Amino acid sequence: MLPRGDLYEAILARRSVRRYEKRPLDEATLAQVREIISGAKPLIPENRFEVLVRDEAASEDLVTVLGGYGRFYTPPHSLAPYMLGEEHVLEDLGYRSEQIAVRLAALGIGSCYIGALKQEDKVRVRFGLPKGARIAAFLVFGRPAVAVGGRTFNTLMRRSLGGHKRLPVERIFLQDTLDNPAAPPAEISPLIEAARVAPSGVNAQPWRFLWRDERLYLFVTRNNLKYTMAGSQEYALHDGGICMANVTLALEALGMEGRWVMFEGTEPDIPDHPADLHPLATLVMR
Ligand SMILES: Cc1cc2nc3c(=O)[nH]c(=O)nc-3n(C[C@H](O)[C@H](O)[C@H](O)COP(=O)(O)O)c2cc1C
Repeated sequence: MLPRGDLYEAILARRSVRRYEKRPLDEATLAQVREIISGAKPLIPENRFEVLVRDEAASEDLVTVLGGYGRFYTPPHSLAPYMLGEEHVLEDLGYRSEQIAVRLAALGIGSCYIGALKQEDKVRVRFGLPKGARIAAFLVFGRPAVAVGGRTFNTLMRRSLGGHKRLPVERIFLQDTLDNPAAPPAEISPLIEAARVAPSGVNAQPWRFLWRDERLYLFVTRNNLKYTMAGSQEYALHDGGICMANVTLALEALGMEGRWVMFEGTEPDIPDHPADLHPLATLVMR
C-alpha cells in the first residue's frame, strides 16, 4: 500500500499521456496492474465489472476504431473496461476506471482514456464483448516517453487539446443554492481540488458541486456542447463517475471517512436545480 500522501499526489499529478515508450511493461509490473484492476471498488456492487487487458504491439489505430480524437504513439498496452448491470452502469464504469488510472499514475505508469461511446455498438462486436455490456472508453497505458521529444510531444498535445485547463473552482462549487458561486470550506477543499483535476472526455468537466447544510451534492451538466462534439451526452455520467472516484481516493489518501449515495431522481431531498443539471449523488461524510 502506498503512503497516503503519494496517493493524493498521484490524483493531482495524473495527466493524459499520448506518447509512450514502445517497450511493454515487465511481468511483475503487469501483475501489479492486474492487482489494481481487481482492487477497484464498486459504486454499485451488483454491477459486473470486467476488463480486457490487451497488448497493443500489433497496433490497430484505436482512435479510429473507437471513434475518439487526438493522436497516440506506441502505447504498449490497453484496458477495455466494460460493465454489465442495471443501475448507474456508466457512472460505475467511470468510477472504477479512474481508480485504475490514478493507481497506475502512482506507480509511474502513464495512461489516457480513448472514448468509445460514439461507436459503442461497433466496439462491442469488434472486441467480442457480451450483449448488453456497456463500454465508454479504453484506457491505453505504459511508460510515458522520457526522451525530450516524447515529453515535449505529451505537453504540446495536452495543451493543443486544452487538457491543461480547468474551470476555476467558483465555476464548479456553489454554496446553499446553485446560483451562488463560492470558495469551498477548508474541510472539503482538498476533495474539491481532487474532483476539479479529474479527466473528462474533451475536457468537458461536467461536474458541479453544491454545499448545503454540511452536505455535498454532485450534479453533472446536461446538453453539454462539448459532449455533442464527442458524439454522446452519456459521457457526462461516465465522467461524473470519474470525478467521484477522485473524491473517494482523496478521502482515503487524507484518512477521511465518507461514501457516495447515488440519486435515483425521485428523492425528496434533492436540492432545487436548473433543467440543465442532472443530480448524480450526495457524499455522506462521517
Ligand atoms: C471518457 C474519456 C474519453 C477520452 N477520449 C479521449 C480521446 O479520444 N483522445 C484523447 O486524446 N484524449 C481523450 N481523453 C482525455 C481527455 O482529453 C483529457 O482527460 C482532458 O483533456 C484533460 O486532460 P488531462 O487528462 O491531461 O488532465 C478522454 C478522457 C475521458 C475521460
